[in-house]
Amino acid sequence: MVEKIVRCPECSKITTFYGNPGDCLSVTCPKCGIKGKVTFKKTVTTENVAIEVYNLKKVYGDLIAVNDISFSVNKGEVFAFLGPNGAGKTTTVEIIESIRKPTAGVIKILGKDIKTSFNQVKEKIGILPQEFHSFEKLTVRETLEYFSMFYKKRVNIDDILDVMDLRSYEKMLYKNLSGGLKQRVGVAISLVNDPDIVFLDEPSTGLDPKARREVWNVISSLRNKGKTVFLTTHYMEEAEYLADHIAVIHKGKIIAEGSLEYLLDKYGHGSLLRIKKCKDPNAVEMLKDKGFEAESEGNGNISIKIDYKDKVINVLSQLRYEGIDYDSIEIRRSNLEEVFLHLTGAKLSEENT
Ligand SMILES: Nc1ncnc2c1ncn2[C@@H]1O[C@H](COP(=O)(O)OP(=O)(O)O)[C@@H](O)[C@H]1O
Ligand SMILES: [Mg+2]
Repeated sequence: MVEKIVRCPECSKITTFYGNPGDCLSVTCPKCGIKGKVTFKKTVTTENVAIEVYNLKKVYGDLIAVNDISFSVNKGEVFAFLGPNGAGKTTTVEIIESIRKPTAGVIKILGKDIKTSFNQVKEKIGILPQEFHSFEKLTVRETLEYFSMFYKKRVNIDDILDVMDLRSYEKMLYKNLSGGLKQRVGVAISLVNDPDIVFLDEPSTGLDPKARREVWNVISSLRNKGKTVFLTTHYMEEAEYLADHIAVIHKGKIIAEGSLEYLLDKYGHGSLLRIKKCKDPNAVEMLKDKGFEAESEGNGNISIKIDYKDKVINVLSQLRYEGIDYDSIEIRRSNLEEVFLHLTGAKLSEENT
């Protein structure tokens, strides 16, 4: 049974109703007696699922690269598989793409077990491999034409050039493109068969910040077109910016999974209010006396943990009441770096160096 809290459209009474997922029940408001219908949200059923991974394991000699992981990716979401170098991301994604063989486990794409039925889903997926390179002496258009020949279903090359903003580069040789443009061509190649699911393995690694943003915009536009995106990355900002659903992988194990909000709520440290260049050396003590979790950062800045939104106002009112001056304030939200630190004791950014 699931619950649904409903406000009566007539008298505004709030009532909790119970039902099974997918049920549509006729209900009566206990206060004013008006009748209505309540629909209970369907839980995720396999028809909404693009990819299912059960107990996947991959062993290379003595190394367990992927250690008994299970997860699923819903249709239409950007799923970020986030973890440091060597965590097992490429191994996992290439097993899902049927490029590598698993040691154990079951994988389904669009409900089909890839061990027996990969050919039935091959046409429905697009792939940008890690460290992708194409033919140096083909132009952008020729590159897309070449890769589209492998598929029965082909998108008009002009449409892809437009969608990917590559029209002005169509006659340029691949070898003369910038790193960002090469990646954009890579994503364009993964779309030549108009796939439902796109796998992008570290699509922005090695790009400068501007080119990275461009790739992010492309990924957002794929989601807006209703595609499912399986993104592997070691950039937590990329996962934070793009993903609807994140699985954090570390040493072959999924150590946390959920939406960004869920992960920050569960493993982060909430938000911090920073009072910059505070003019009173006793301000920290004063705030602590008033019950705030305040700490000096040692440079005149003070950080205060914010666990409910009015706390910001309470702290600032207290400072004003005490006549304490400062330069400015900053509010910093917890991030995935903190989540990773909390779970592993290491910084994600340092693990990648
Ligand atoms: N073909 C292979 N043979 C042996 N070890 C491998 C092979 N491919 C990957 N590995 C090892 O498996 C681990 C996971 O690698 P990989 O899946 O590439 O991680 P990621 O993509 O997260 O950086 C690493 O320790 C890597 O060295
Ligand atoms: Mg990799």
